[in-house]
Amino acid sequence: MTAAAIIRQRTGAEPFDCAIVLGTGLGPLAETIADATVIPYAELPGFPGAGVSGHAGRLVVGRLEGRRVAVMQGRAHVYEQGDARVMKPAIDTFATLGARALLLTNAAGSLKADMPPGAVMAISDHIALFGPNPLIGLPGDARFVPMNDAYHPGLTAALARGAQRGGVRLHQGVYAWVTGPSFETPAEIRALQRLGADAVGMSTVPEVILARHAGLSVVALSMITNYGAGLAPQAPSHGETKTVAAEGAGAVAAVIRGFLSEMSA
Ligand code: HPA
Repeated sequence: MTAAAIIRQRTGAEPFDCAIVLGTGLGPLAETIADATVIPYAELPGFPGAGVSGHAGRLVVGRLEGRRVAVMQGRAHVYEQGDARVMKPAIDTFATLGARALLLTNAAGSLKADMPPGAVMAISDHIALFGPNPLIGLPGDARFVPMNDAYHPGLTAALARGAQRGGVRLHQGVYAWVTGPSFETPAEIRALQRLGADAVGMSTVPEVILARHAGLSVVALSMITNYGAGLAPQAPSHGETKTVAAEGAGAVAAVIRGFLSEMSA
């Protein structure tokens, strides 16, 4: 049975308003889902295997703010096995299930002095010039996906209204994708600043490309956990990423709840 068939069998065939991917430290939102059905990734063919520290590895289906949601508590990253398509089965599953939107979240480093750790940033666009594209090797003309408005303007406007509703200041900016898992050098951070990036991180962008390929509408946000290398006295660390993301999880949850309330209003 496919993952989509298993999800339908266990939770019903009603289409999803939103599929959500919760990044590092942001998982607790999934604990607040009403009428929850929890399905470990291990029971969903193609979903990622046991992941990175800070990730639970389960799909939670239910309702948030009355919307029907499927929430991934944890994702797989390209840096784990070098597979740029590692999230394709999960994302294709959400397309098959008829999700009206895909909301991606992550922890990221800031490249801007006025966007400190603890800030929440809506991703308006991205730069992914250096990593492998997840569509490399796929057949046919469908792989030539336009990336204009990859971050859906209407959904991003709903995210901004949702942040306002939740009382959270929402920054807007360009997310630069790097594969990691090593952090950037200070010279790389300066280069990314000059390229026009506002934040940097190791996830999300392959998922955006796969989602656009699958025909899903995307909206995304970053929880800023640190300043990029060289912009603060101390070097970034995964421990700091997890701690600061967990501290900001409440703000991100408020933005997501506000977004769900606003998304089709
Ligand atoms: N760089 C890359 N990825 C990140 C960072 C960073 O500074 N912080 C959280 N994820």
